[in-house]
This record gives sequence, structure tokens and C-alpha cells, in this order.
Amino acid sequence: MKKKGGFTGQLGFVFAAAGSAVGVGNLWRFPYLAAKDGGGVFLIIYLVLIVTVGFSLLTTDIAIGRKTGMSAIHAYESMNKKWKFLGVITFLVPVVIMTYYAVIGGWILKYMLMFLMGGTKEAASDTFFTGFITSTSSVQFALIFMLITALVVYNGVEKGIERVSKIMMPILLVMVIAIAIYSLTLKNDLGDGTIRTGLDGLRVYLTPDFTGMSIGRFLQISLDAMSQLFFSLSVSMGIMITYGSYVKKDVDLGRSISMIECMDTGVALLAGMMIIPAIYVFSGVEGMAAGPGLMFISLPKVFDCMCAAGRIIGLVFFILAGFAALTSCISVLESITANFMEIFHWERKKTTGILSVIYLAATAVIALGYSIFYVEVLLPNGSTGQLLDIMDYISNSFMMPFIAFLTSIFIGWIIKPTWIAEEMEYGGRKFHRKQLYNVMVRYILPVIMLILFLQSTGILNML
Ligand code: PFF
Repeated sequence: MKKKGGFTGQLGFVFAAAGSAVGVGNLWRFPYLAAKDGGGVFLIIYLVLIVTVGFSLLTTDIAIGRKTGMSAIHAYESMNKKWKFLGVITFLVPVVIMTYYAVIGGWILKYMLMFLMGGTKEAASDTFFTGFITSTSSVQFALIFMLITALVVYNGVEKGIERVSKIMMPILLVMVIAIAIYSLTLKNDLGDGTIRTGLDGLRVYLTPDFTGMSIGRFLQISLDAMSQLFFSLSVSMGIMITYGSYVKKDVDLGRSISMIECMDTGVALLAGMMIIPAIYVFSGVEGMAAGPGLMFISLPKVFDCMCAAGRIIGLVFFILAGFAALTSCISVLESITANFMEIFHWERKKTTGILSVIYLAATAVIALGYSIFYVEVLLPNGSTGQLLDIMDYISNSFMMPFIAFLTSIFIGWIIKPTWIAEEMEYGGRKFHRKQLYNVMVRYILPVIMLILFLQSTGILNML
């Protein structure tokens, strides 16, 4: 195999992989689901799933990457020629995600600028977000974000990705912890004698709420947790295969995987701790929005209620969100770049150059999906979406569970789990959760992933 660049060691790899995993999903989806799905009930289910399902999916991707030393397409092809198609579909996920991720990054940049310039009131107004995304100026921000991403990838694995991740991830962790602590100190007098505090909000977040719990609701919460952990760990989309291919043979994969799981879950839990109490104190969590609405509409209102501190907290929040989005976006572009380099034998700079042009155009089109290219499409899961939602739906709800399903069949029954175990045990390391992995990949993952696929495509509801 041709010698290629890689991470300098365990730390660089863990920060880069955690950088990919920690993204807007941790900030706007996890807290929303926790608030919606009975607080502690969701948290317990999520934690159990992360150390079983999440661990198995992450282990599979990273071990495939390091053992084959290649990205998705060639990795699957080298394992079994007939299964190259799985590598191709896996590669297509980041290809789709890349069209819209920089658009979200652009929104974050805009809000960063708003809070920096003192536009807290304006950012908190009801029409600001919609006004911004439907204006053509949103394109400029998306393109700037795309260019920054391309620049990092252009500089390579060690000098670009690893360096940026090693700087941004620790700062992000400190910022999340700081705002979470601040959130707990909040207090608001509602004027009717009730005082809401951040600690009350924390109780809402952590206490398991079993009201109305039935088997159906329990399953629904489990499926929510499952699709969240999928997206959150950046698995089944070839990204962790690519990152795994850059890991040196002397790195302990088992330990690294545990660290990545911990960081991703830690940031998600802390995000809940910073967002749920803040929203609870100022507006109550009942109407907590999902997705972009939470980050770009509800939170700016909360920052505005914090008076003078709001401007600083808002700015810090959007900087950390920017770091989270950038390290994720980098991993998406890197995965596409790596596959291209392997297929066409191009060098990195040329590949990044060509991909940048393509994705600058794609990003502009998706950013204009709220104005010039506005469409309303009814998605199979019942929601109506614009271009960005369509891309998001195709990649996350449709392709990822399908790929995870096929991968678990492929590894569990064709390649066999020992193939993965050998890589985990390389150099005499211990594969601590080996038995768990075997059972998960052979029996449990295929069933769960099939159910998830049927649910997220809306087929389950039709049955
Ligand atoms: N894991 C990231 C998050 O939780 O936001 C999102 C993500 C990153 C998804 C990279 C897909 C991806 F390719």
C-alpha cells in the first residue's frame, strides 16, 4: 500500500474523531429529544445504547479503516469484491451531507457576528432567522464556511485536520462546561410569585418522567435515541473508516473508541445542561423547538433575556457551535477527498481544489433553497421539507440505517467478527467488549437497524 499521511498519535486521532462526532446534532438535537422524551428516561436509554449499539458501529468503522488502510470504496472492495457496492453507497452519504453542512455553518457564522456586533435584540426578534435564511446574503456566509473547511482539508491530515481539532476541541469543552455552569445559576421571577431557577431546570432534564409511559412510547423513545446516536457518532457514512485509515498500528483502538464515545456523549449531556435549564428559566421547556429552531430562534431569545451577560454568553455559544460544526464539516469533506484520491490517484491539493469548486456551487444552491430555489416536498416521514431537509432526510433517515444494516450483515455473517477483533487486538491489546461486539454485530444490529430504517422511512407506520 502506498504510504500516506496520518495522525501523529492517539491524541490527534481521538480529537479529530471526536471533532467529527461532536457537531450541531449534540447541540440542537440531543437537548430537544431529552426534553421531549421524558428527561432521564431518554438519558438512560441513550447511555445504554451508546455503549452497546454506538460502540459496535464505531468499532466496526474504525477497525475497517485501520485494517484496510483505505477509505470506504476501496476498503469494502478489498474485503470482498462483491460488496464494493456497499463502499459506494457509504461514500455517497458524505457526498450528500456536504451539500448542506456548510449552509448550517454559515448560519452559525452569521449569529456569531450578530452577537459580536451587539445585535442581540435583533437576533432575538421573531422574524430574524427566517428573514436571514430567505435572503441571498445567507449564501455568502455558507461560502465562507465552505472555504474555511476546504482550507483545513487542503493542508492535510496532520497539518490541517489534526492541528485544528487539537486546538478547537479543548476550547469547545471548556466553553460548554462554562455555559452549563452559568445556566445552573440562572433565576427568573415570572411575576406571579413563581421563581424559576436553573437548578429546577436541571431537575426537569435529569429526572426520569414516566407519565404516560407505555411500550409504544418506550419504543419510540428508543428509536429517537438510536437515530440520534447514529448521526451523533458520525458512523455508517465512511467518515470513521477514513479517519481509522490514518491511525498508526501502535495506537490502542479500544481505548481510543471509549474516549471518542465519552467525549461525544459528554458534550451532548453538557449541551443539555446548558440549554434545557436556560430555556426552562425563561420560557419553559414545553414548547422547546427541534433542530434549527432551537439554536437560531429559541436560544437567541433566551440570550436576550439574560440582559448584559446575554451578549457574551450568546457569542461564546455561537463560537463553540462554530467549532463543533467546523470539525464535523472537515471530516465530511476529508472523507470525500480521501475516496477521490484513492480512486483517481490524484494528490491532495488537486483533489481539494476540484471538490471545493463543486461544493461551493452545491452549497450556494442549497443555501438558496429558502429563496430562489424554494421547494416544498412532502417527505416519507410525513414532514415537509426544503432542499436542505431533503438532503438531510436522504442521508440520515434513509441511507445511514440502511448502510448500518448491510454492514452488520456483511461483518457479522460474511467477513465474521473475528476479522474486526484481530485488528482490535493487534499488538497484544485487549478487546474488552469482544463478546458484546460479536453478539451485537451478528444478531442485534441487523434487527435494530432494519426497524430503524423502516421507521425513519415511514414504512413501519404503513404496516
Ligand atoms: N456527528 C455530527 C453531529 O452530531 O452533529 C454530525 C455529522 C458530522 C454528521 C459529520 C455527519 C457527518 F458526516
